[in-house]
Amino acid sequence: MKKVLVTGGAGYIGSHTCVELSDAGYTPVIADNLSNSSSSALEGIAALCAYPPEFHNIDFTDREAVNRLFVQEGPFHGVIHFAAFKAVGESVKNPLKYYRNNLQSTEVLLSAMSQHGCALLVFSSSCTVYGQPKVLPVNEAAPIARAHSPYGFTKQVCEQMITDAVNAPGSDLSATLLRYFNPIGAHPSGLIGELPLGPPENLVPYITQSAAGLRGPITIFGSDYNTPDGTCVRDYIHVCDLAAAHVRALSYMEHTPKACEAFNLGTGKGNSVKEVIDTFQEATGTPLHYTFGSRRPGDIEQIYAQADKALNLLGWRTERSLRNALVDAWNWQLQLQKSSHA
Ligand code: UFG
Repeated sequence: MKKVLVTGGAGYIGSHTCVELSDAGYTPVIADNLSNSSSSALEGIAALCAYPPEFHNIDFTDREAVNRLFVQEGPFHGVIHFAAFKAVGESVKNPLKYYRNNLQSTEVLLSAMSQHGCALLVFSSSCTVYGQPKVLPVNEAAPIARAHSPYGFTKQVCEQMITDAVNAPGSDLSATLLRYFNPIGAHPSGLIGELPLGPPENLVPYITQSAAGLRGPITIFGSDYNTPDGTCVRDYIHVCDLAAAHVRALSYMEHTPKACEAFNLGTGKGNSVKEVIDTFQEATGTPLHYTFGSRRPGDIEQIYAQADKALNLLGWRTERSLRNALVDAWNWQLQLQKSSHA
């Protein structure tokens, strides 16, 4: 039985990854303090996994609790580390909260893995480490830009911490640093998906809530960018495709001792905000109301991935389209409403 510890396993990407792990024959063990997720996600995960995963309510900055977890529930075959705060705007307002949580939890985890002989780590990173790349599509050799937010800086520092831990003399740690582009969508079953607390900051949850009448019209942040239709361009990746890459990353490290590799996880295709809105309306037959507003501070103009490295080394590529992802996001929104009225 290959137990894989999934920190932040009740969250958006973590929950989908638990299902992929279970499908691939691993035994996910969820550790989450539910600070930005809900225990209802655990029910959805349980319904989709071969066996309901064990759940531990743990804060990863709590060294004693983490050590206890490794002693009592280990040995772990590997760890997938999602647990972190992730709101760019909030990180600017409250940077120390981000430094304390995101950095300390990673150090505590690395120490526990070293102490308890766990050598495989998949780290949840972000394309934010590139800032606005000079060359598109961006590949993993592109320079790491000065971070625009404390959140982005924590991803850069964690990548460096992990790289240093792999390279330390005597270490047998292997790591993959997965740089996500824009994850969207939900599991096609409608049993798990994104659960933003309060008004969503991200585009697709705002679209689905606006379409459902829970929010006002969407504001498109900026229409004067140097892009084909003037709106920002991103690489939107279905969360199930993203989750599948974590399983590939684990199996890659099983065959590559002392690996330390960063991988872009994206589709390789850029879509504008306007294209996302148009595709949603066309695919779901649901009209959206939107207006054009000013640029959102901190937004970059455009980014999309070159994901050839993930294809070559992990044998991974995306299988689902933007349309699939938007239909699944809408289905998830409808399920949420059904269950809130039940
Ligand atoms: N947007 C709108 N209106 C909205 C919300 C978003 O026009 O109501 C636009 C944004 O301006 C941006 C695009 O939609 O152009 C995507 O915005 P998101 O907030 O969905 O995603 P970001 O690209 O800003 O952020 C994502 C992740 C972050 C990560 C960042 C790295 O959510 O965690 O990519 O660039 F740090």
